[in-house]
Amino acid sequence: MCGIVGVLGQHEVSPIILDALKRLEYRGYDSAGIATVHQGTLDRRRAVGKLINLSDTLVHQPLPGRAGIGHTRWATHGGPSVANAHPHQVGRVAVVHNGIIENFRALRAEMTEAGAQFSSETDTETIAQLASHHLDQGMTPVQAARATLKRLEGAFALAFVFAGEDDLIVCARRGSPLCIGHGEGEMYLGSDAIALAAMTDRITYLEEGDWAILTRAGAQIFDAEDRQTSRPLTRVDLAQTRVDKSGHRHFMAKEMAEQPAVLQQALAAYSGAGGIALPEGLDFARADRLILVACGTAHYACQVAKYWFEQFAGLPVELDIASEFRYRAPVLGASNMAVFVSQSGETADTLAALRHVRGHVGQVVSVVNVPSSSIARESDVVLPIHAGPEIGVASTKAFTAQLQVLALMALEAGRARGFLDAATHAARMDDLRAAPGYIAQALDREDEIRRLTEMLANARDVLFLGRGAMFPLALEGALKLKEISYIHAEAYAAGELKHGPIALIDRDLPVIIFAPHDALFDKTVSNMQEVMARQGRVMLISDAAGLAEVDDVPHWLQMPAVPPLIAPMVYAIPAQLIAYHTALHRGTDVDQPRNLAKSVTVE
Ligand code: G6P
Repeated sequence: MCGIVGVLGQHEVSPIILDALKRLEYRGYDSAGIATVHQGTLDRRRAVGKLINLSDTLVHQPLPGRAGIGHTRWATHGGPSVANAHPHQVGRVAVVHNGIIENFRALRAEMTEAGAQFSSETDTETIAQLASHHLDQGMTPVQAARATLKRLEGAFALAFVFAGEDDLIVCARRGSPLCIGHGEGEMYLGSDAIALAAMTDRITYLEEGDWAILTRAGAQIFDAEDRQTSRPLTRVDLAQTRVDKSGHRHFMAKEMAEQPAVLQQALAAYSGAGGIALPEGLDFARADRLILVACGTAHYACQVAKYWFEQFAGLPVELDIASEFRYRAPVLGASNMAVFVSQSGETADTLAALRHVRGHVGQVVSVVNVPSSSIARESDVVLPIHAGPEIGVASTKAFTAQLQVLALMALEAGRARGFLDAATHAARMDDLRAAPGYIAQALDREDEIRRLTEMLANARDVLFLGRGAMFPLALEGALKLKEISYIHAEAYAAGELKHGPIALIDRDLPVIIFAPHDALFDKTVSNMQEVMARQGRVMLISDAAGLAEVDDVPHWLQMPAVPPLIAPMVYAIPAQLIAYHTALHRGTDVDQPRNLAKSVTVE
């Protein structure tokens, strides 16, 4: 979602801010803007659509200045338009904002009453109006920003610049992440370290409730109670901030190709002398129930993991999407372990669900890709998935890496609870070690998959079916296809076909079936026959043994024969490649599909 950049530089900052905003493009946005202070004068440029439009605007109307802030906006209050794009400027102050100001209606009414003229539909403009009002009352810029912050409710990250102040940015973090970058006589601000990677690897992450005064000499940080505080300066691993495509056409293609290496690395990171070495503090023996909470793709990874925790550890699992979980009345207990799974570690609903259970369950655990993220910081135990930056909006390598970490957890839970004997544990570990090799074999089928997807390019709807752990995989396949090709896709547990979706089947409906030759194969094939009997256009994805048992399947893809534990990771590859190649056929924007955001920091 929205991205924030700020620079107090020694040179012209517009090009630097633009470049940093480009590094934030992956988060998803629909307009962008920059404000600078030049010889005391505050000015801004904004444009709708991709950053190239802002870049063009800057060519025709350059924006000089060595101090500035920039923003990529993902519309919430008010559609994508120049008027709604950030920075919002009122009088002598300009502001950029991520998140939502929940009391903006009341503030807007109050400011309108006081004579303010609003020029946008956004919640953000109320912040600029308030700060401007305080400046007019004679407050200094820092006082005005501080007084404004005290009036705001909601989750946000903010940055202010002021006319007459070309060595000042005031910023604040409440709910949305923000980090400060340290340069040589320069200071920076960014939504994440990736934004600042071209400038510095020396980063200070603001904590929840912090606000800060930035000048070229450094940062003064204050906590939520206005006490001056210090936060650690960390060196960011540059490999974690690389955002190049390494010769691939899309980030998604690169990230899919990285999966064998990523899984190998993560496995190495969790290997110890006695097999699996999970972080200390993770106590499965005292857990009587597991609560898995996540959104989107991460939720489907949890759904696969439910089968594993039940099968390998005899642990009851409750599973929910984060936005639903905390609005029910979930029954929580001191012997429950709650596990929050999130690539970004910043998803607002998942974070809120975590806060909801804190104090009501025994252990709060997270499985994240970004160890510095809010979800990681607020967990008792963190298991990083070691996938490296994922830039494509459609999650791919994070999904398989989440599955791997969850599989390790399930096996470890089985061992710790005495549910899994040593030989079975060792055999399943061997299965996991074999996964990268099988994933590489699945990736080798790309040409075949590309040819098969030609039949999908003009489909209006697609149905995905699977049983057991292949059901969540079918859900993930449908999600991927929707996200990047904009084709309506649905997934059902194959056994549920007769209870509704079979009514949709005709000769125009492609039905993709994930069915490795496992204990459920025959049952899935029976459902496939029901589809074929009604002229549905079946595409069966199975292994040699499975394909040998069926005749007349119009379209099929042969996968390597794999142990059941790792089938979801291996079958994730065709699910991803089907979506990717269908999107290529249709010419959609694979890495930044319309309306979607990589990191969903609003509810
Ligand atoms: C967004 C992304 C999805 C992701 C979901 C959850 O919708 O586009 O790819 O699965 O958020 O994100 P998280 O970072 O919590 O895994």
